[in-house]
Amino acid sequence: MTPSWFDHAPVLVSETVEILSAVPRGIVVDATLGGAGHATALLDAAPHLRVVGVDQDPEARRAAQERLTPYGDRAVVLAGRFDRLNDLLDRAGIADISGFLFDLGVSSPQLDIPERGFSFRHDGPLDMRMDPDAALTADTIVNQWSEPKLSSIIRSGGDERFAGRIAKAIVAARPIRGTVQLAEVVVAAIPAATRRTGGHPAKRTFQALRIAVNDELTILEPALRAALGRLIPNGRGVVLTYHSGEDRIVKGVFRELTTSTTPVHLPVPEEAAPFRLLRPASRTASSDEQERNPRSRSARLRAIERVAA
Ligand SMILES: C[S@@+](CC[C@H](N)C(=O)[O-])C[C@H]1O[C@@H](n2cnc3c(N)ncnc32)[C@H](O)[C@@H]1O
Repeated sequence: MTPSWFDHAPVLVSETVEILSAVPRGIVVDATLGGAGHATALLDAAPHLRVVGVDQDPEARRAAQERLTPYGDRAVVLAGRFDRLNDLLDRAGIADISGFLFDLGVSSPQLDIPERGFSFRHDGPLDMRMDPDAALTADTIVNQWSEPKLSSIIRSGGDERFAGRIAKAIVAARPIRGTVQLAEVVVAAIPAATRRTGGHPAKRTFQALRIAVNDELTILEPALRAALGRLIPNGRGVVLTYHSGEDRIVKGVFRELTTSTTPVHLPVPEEAAPFRLLRPASRTASSDEQERNPRSRSARLRAIERVAA
């Protein structure tokens, strides 16, 4: 059971477990351990696997540790950001892995605790750090970054078409002291006629700020390549994304590694690609799951396998 203070419903869990439980005996790295929902489901389904879980959030690690204790030495929890994956695994003496999972973004408890500063509904400080020891906070971005820089991150991390107007309104309203004040400024900057579509009007801007605070788009590709580089033959990787920017990165890396590099016009034997896509190329949550768990509505699952040498 999830500890009651850490309530996160894992997304596309049976699909993820089905893909990862078919890998050879060994270690599966869960690079975004959270409350260990996926990790425990996998450990239950696949007795031949161990899980090494990474999370940069101490609260998530505490919840995960509690849930993973019954699994003894089949589960290990490591502290750190996943762009340090190579370093973290080297220090743990792990060279090769049988599988990996990235379930990107934040967990429900992180969003729900006002003091963490992710919520546009409950007032809290402008924080949004997943790692409370990190230097950059949302306060710095909101109150100090230039208007063009603000506009650019709101557009790229939020797919927000009114990014320019929102950035201008934020700069004019400075200093902004809390999440509710920020949400009010954002809502007022969006034309009234479009405020009623696509959920809360501040949702996209808050997502974009969170992505910038935690440097999420910059670190994804190198971390993904580090995990792929350690996969053994027939080993598999699963990535769950929640918005178009991160999905584009995953799709691009997977496409590159699953495409043969032999030019089609050359009369030489084809050099096989080192990985293959597990089809369908992208999966979404069933309508049942989307009904039960709103977080799953934007989820997209992609999976890849290293081909046998
Ligand atoms: C969507 S939740 C994962 C939930 C998990 N799969 C479960 O079943 O409970 C994402 C988790 O990854 C962590 N996280 C996000 N980005 C990270 C990163 N770059 N490095 C390490 N942990 C990260 C967050 O702190 C959060 O706990």
